[in-house]
Amino acid sequence: MSKKPDILLTRDVRFAPAALESAPGEANNFAANPPPNGVMPVVTLAVQVAGHIHTDTGMLVNIKHIDQIVRRVAAPAMADMLRSDIQSIGPGLLLAELFQRCGAALQPYVMTNLMLKISPWMYFQAHGGELPMIQMAQKFEFSAAHRLHNPELSPEKNQELFGKCNNLNGHGHNYELEVLISGQPDPHSGQIMPLANFQRLVNEHVIDVFDHKHLNMDCPEFSTLNPTVENIARVIFTKMQGVFATGVKLVAIKVWETPKTCCEVRAG
Ligand code: NI
Repeated sequence: MSKKPDILLTRDVRFAPAALESAPGEANNFAANPPPNGVMPVVTLAVQVAGHIHTDTGMLVNIKHIDQIVRRVAAPAMADMLRSDIQSIGPGLLLAELFQRCGAALQPYVMTNLMLKISPWMYFQAHGGELPMIQMAQKFEFSAAHRLHNPELSPEKNQELFGKCNNLNGHGHNYELEVLISGQPDPHSGQIMPLANFQRLVNEHVIDVFDHKHLNMDCPEFSTLNPTVENIARVIFTKMQGVFATGVKLVAIKVWETPKTCCEVRAG
């Protein structure tokens, strides 16, 4: 068998770091373990491990093992930081620390990626070998109308291809946009870039341009380009390329047209 890892497994572990001492061992793995003892942050650590399937178990690694390590190693480290004088934990410092501790504790399994989800709208991740560079993603929303239509095709063919999306006067979607960037965190704030600047750039280049617009009729980008979710994602990726300061790289753009349909464009 090849020595090179040929399979990846990712496990989400949810916990309330500050509740570690008040509710040790209480099991509620769907909400969080330990669960929040009152109003307090609940975070998710997504641990990705690379390796091989063991023929005796059919597993790469037992997910209980990952859960135990995160709760034994990462949760106390985060609880310590919450108790310390650090008013706001910088994601750079935190991820580097957690990656090192969890990675060491998981050996001989190889942890390849560690993602810290701090809310449904924002996550940070460290990828093996890329530290001290980390990645940050944030979700944004915009609402827009569009019509899918190709004027070179017959009305019947357009109907057949696009169905209801070919409606003459268009229809609307509540789009979700995720922007993923990477960079070396600032040693003081732990952030790749100030969050206000990040939001300002996305607002300026995307949200203010497309929000509450009819993409075909109001936006020159789509005057001749069919505003499919694929084309919208590609246009947004192109717009966001090169807008960040030196040292910050656009990694990927994801656009959800509906909760069931998402398109991702990644840097080459
Ligand atoms: Ni549509």
